[in-house]
Parts: sequence; C-alpha cells; structure tokens
Amino acid sequence: MCGIIGYIGEQEAADIIVDGLRRLEYRGYDSAGVAINNDGIHLRRAVGKLRNLAKSLDAEPLNGTLGIGHTRWATHGRPTEPNAHPHVVGRVAVVHNGIIENHLALRSQLESEGHTFSSETDTEIFSHLIDRTLQGGTTLAEAVRAATQAVHGAYAIAVLDVENPDEVVVAKQQSPLILGVGQGETFCASDIPAILSHTRDVVFLEDGDMAVLTRAGFTISRFESGEPVERAVTRVQWSAVAAEKGGYKHFMLKEIHEQSRAITDTIRGRVSLEQGEVFIEELGFTAEDLKELRRIVIIACGTSWHAGLVGKHYLEQATRIPVEVDLASEFRYRDPIVDAHTLVLAISQSGETADTLAALKEAQRRGARGAAVVNVIGSSIARAAGNVLYTHAGPEIGVASTKAFTTQMTALYLIAVRLGRLLGTLDTTQARELLAALVEVPGEVSRAIELNADVRETAYRYLEATSALYLGRGLLHPIALEGALKLKEISYIHAEGYAAGEMKHGPIALIDEHTPTVIAAPRGPSYEKTCSNLQEIAARHGPVIAVGDEDDTDLRGLADAYLPVPPTTPWTAPLVTVIPLQLLAYHLADLKGTDIDQPRNLAKSVTVE
Ligand code: AGP
Repeated sequence: MCGIIGYIGEQEAADIIVDGLRRLEYRGYDSAGVAINNDGIHLRRAVGKLRNLAKSLDAEPLNGTLGIGHTRWATHGRPTEPNAHPHVVGRVAVVHNGIIENHLALRSQLESEGHTFSSETDTEIFSHLIDRTLQGGTTLAEAVRAATQAVHGAYAIAVLDVENPDEVVVAKQQSPLILGVGQGETFCASDIPAILSHTRDVVFLEDGDMAVLTRAGFTISRFESGEPVERAVTRVQWSAVAAEKGGYKHFMLKEIHEQSRAITDTIRGRVSLEQGEVFIEELGFTAEDLKELRRIVIIACGTSWHAGLVGKHYLEQATRIPVEVDLASEFRYRDPIVDAHTLVLAISQSGETADTLAALKEAQRRGARGAAVVNVIGSSIARAAGNVLYTHAGPEIGVASTKAFTTQMTALYLIAVRLGRLLGTLDTTQARELLAALVEVPGEVSRAIELNADVRETAYRYLEATSALYLGRGLLHPIALEGALKLKEISYIHAEGYAAGEMKHGPIALIDEHTPTVIAAPRGPSYEKTCSNLQEIAARHGPVIAVGDEDDTDLRGLADAYLPVPPTTPWTAPLVTVIPLQLLAYHLADLKGTDIDQPRNLAKSVTVE
C-alpha cells in the first residue's frame, strides 16, 4: 500500500515529509517522492529505498513550508522514476494511494482532448483532471471535487496548486487518510505513525470526505454534495511502534484483519456481475491460446502451494482442463514433462522465492507457457512469467502468510471463471452465481473474524498440546494443510494437515486425549463424511475443534470447541474457513510468547534454495 503525507505550516516541509515517509516504510514501497510548493512546484523523486530520495534532497535541498510526499507500492506501472509520485501536470501536484477502476476510459478521453501522459500510472489521471478544471477558473477545492465525480475506485489523494501557496486539498474514498492538527500547522497522512512525532490530535476522514488544509486548520466537506461536515479530533494514545501496527499487537494480527479489504481490492474493477464476466486482460490469454492447452501445472511453495491446491479445484471445475499442483522445489528437479500445450502457473506472494522462480524458468525452457499470481509488482517471478495477475493485498510484513493467501485464492477464483468463460465451459448463469458468491466474501471474512472474537479462550484450553491434527475434505483439504502450517510456523507446536478421508489410513493412530484435532466442516459437498470422521475421533476420546456454520447446532454439539463461520458456497468456503484457523494459530502463539512476526529460523521470502 502506498504512503501519503502532506504538510502546511511554518517549518521546512521537506524534512517533515521525508521523516513521515520513513515512518510509513512498513507499508512497503518501491519508489518515493516529494513536491514542495514554494514560488513554483519543486519535485524530487527516486526509485528504491527512501534513503535515495533523502540523499538527493541532502545534495540539493528543497525549501518551503508547504508540500506533499509519497511512497509508492506499484499497482499500475512499473517501479520507475516517471511512475513515482507526486505527479505534476500544469499547476498541480498529486499523490495518490488506491486504484482508479475506470482509468483506461479516463485516460483515453483525456488523450483525445490532447493531454499527454508522462507515466504509466492511473494516478496521473487525477493531475490532468484537476489541472484542466483549475485552468477553467475554479478553486482548488472545486477542481478536486470535480475530479472525484469522474473517478471510480479507491483513492486517498493530496493535491497542491502552484498558484495557491496556502492550501493542501485532500479527498478520501476507501483508502485511508487522516489529518493531523498542530499549532499553526496541519498535516495529512495515510496512517498515524507518519505524524505522531508532531501531533497526537488526529481526524479520521470518512469515505466521501474532502478537506482543505491551511496553516490555521482545516475544513471538511462531502465531495458528492459539497456540504460541510464536522469530524471529531481524536487524541492518539499509541506509541509510535504500536501505531505502525495500527494498534494491533503484531503485523500478523493486523494483516488477518486487513483480509476483507485486501480481497475487495483484489476483486475491484475485475468483475461484472451483470455480464458474468471477469476482466483480467493482464493475464493475456485468448480462447485460441486456451484451446491449445492440454494441462495446467501450478507450482509454488508453502502457503502459496496450499492456494494452488484450492486453485486446482476451481480451474478443473471451471475449464475441465487437468490441473496438477506441484511443490516448486520438487518440480524443478523431476525432469518435468511439459510442452507448448502446458500452462505453468507460478504462485508467490514475494515473487522472489528461489524454487518457484527456478521451476518457472525450467518449465518455460521446456516450452511451457508461463503465468503467475504475485503480490509484489515487478518482482522476479512477475517479470519471468510475463503474464501476471497481481493480488492487491498490499505488503505482507508478518512472515506467516495470511492476506496473501486469501487474495491468492481470490485471484485463482477470478482466473478460473475467466478461463471457463473463454473456453465456454462456464455459461453466463454459472459465472454470475460464482461471482455473486465471490463478492460476498469480504463481508463473510469480516463476519468470521467477529464470530471468533473469543477464539483466545479456545486457544488457552489447548496450550499444553504438543501436537495437533488438522483434517479437511475436497476444497477444505488445503485449508487443513494451511491451518497446520500456520500453527507450527508461529507457535512451534507440531501440527499435521491431512485429507479427512485418509484418517483411517494412519493418522487415527495419533488420536488420544492430549492430541486435539481441528476439523473443517462447514456445510457443503463433503459435510456428512467429515462429520463421520469427527465422530470417529470423538469415540476415541480425541478432543475436536470444529470449524462449522454458525447455525449448525448439531456439529457444535459434537465438538469440544467450536469455531463458527457464516454459511458459504463450495468455492468460497476455503476463503472463509481459513480465518478462524489463522486466529487460533495466532492466539496459541501469542499465549506461548513466540516471536509471531518473525518466527525462529523463518524468512519472509526464501530467496535461496
Ligand atoms: C507461509 O506462512 C510462509 N510464509 C511460507 O510458507 C511462504 O508461503 C512460502 O515461503 C512461499 O513464499 P512466496 O509466496 O513469497 O513465494
């Protein structure tokens, strides 16, 4: 996620802005920039780490007491200097965090009016729109308001006008933006840490708000109606470190709670419910390409491999093309049988996992078509694959993958519907039903978090366990594997995920009163059989922690502990059922006092074999 900061006051703006951007580095970024409005707009941008921008400013300082700054997490356009923010067009400079859904239409409209673009970003559209209106003789606030009426999507923006040295104008729609209230100075920022060293008095803007910031303070209005509105000033009690985690104790917990937004952002602009269509042109396949395919091979590691196992179900059900899912570290060394009729799909949060990158290149060397689902724009796997569908999870700081996992499954869901529609193996009605279920998932994920607010009590009951078994069937087998991985990698309690149907072929020997079994059993195709497995475990005095529908009183009665989720469909069940398993692992680890965000021996990205 990008980071924004703006300042207007009596102090040198550049220092405050760079310091604020430094406190937003945890949000992840690949370039940064500053614009100072001081008898002209003076722009400085740099790719890579913030120190590159700071070095440039040390060499040639920018003076002035009014400015905006940005750290960019690339979503549209590669991490390059021309794509870095702020974007200056005519009189205005703009920084933006979010995604403009109708950017293609707006860009071609502006180009047809003679506007020329200097970047690949969607953000530059704001600069052109606001400058065009401003040139027509409006105030900056009116020009920004007009732009918000044209743009659809998620945005937090801060805007400067060279001819207006006493204002910063901001607007907020779905992306976070706060104001900071000082003495003779006013701030805006994506998040509290950026301004906490200057003021603890903040205003949380609401979606649909815009504000004019001056040295004397700020005024807020609704950009739809223009009506003025009051927002409370809140005094923040957090420490600076706590503020980076949004008040959560660990990044992992923050990222578990970010999943609803991350899934929304990954779906945004890619689905038409009316048409039953998915728009992911960036994946670049035509119906003719797909008709050539005989097989799809998914390659990944760890949690991403679990997402691939879910993706297999989606893709086979939607396209009837056989799908194989392989550990990248195994695939690359087994002399794999792939050719021009094989699509190899790499899944990776970091886009830098050595085994996955090497496996992808090996498959391409053998003639396979490559594609990837990746979270980091411009990463090695993204570049090697060529055809990429980006998850918009924002940077994932916690080593244990959570929002990357659910957005990977979301991306695979979209790909399966898209390929099914292209091949004609999914009709409009089927696609509409699948997509209607998908767009409900963000709300269901939030509900699952609410329903498990007391999961810590369940965790406490099993704190002494030294081993646990996780069981699931069908689309929930990968969720059992993922739940087990979450537990072992952050709490260091041994856990093993298994297909529930396999229990009698060995694992049942593990069942005793000290070994809890976590079983994923929401209502769905494998519900009855999974309930039988649960009863077989209970009959052997094995403690059972069941994940099931919130209204399933029968299942709740069979289990020793119950983790409720809202009702789901077969395809959406994995996305929702994993939530309580993430929370269970988190609270067990927290009760054990392990280093949850950086578990022992683990790295966020395994860039070596
Ligand atoms: C999962 O919680 C771990 N962080 C790990 O298994 C991870 O999924 C694996 O290393 C793959 O990483 P990638 O998605 O960045 O390729």
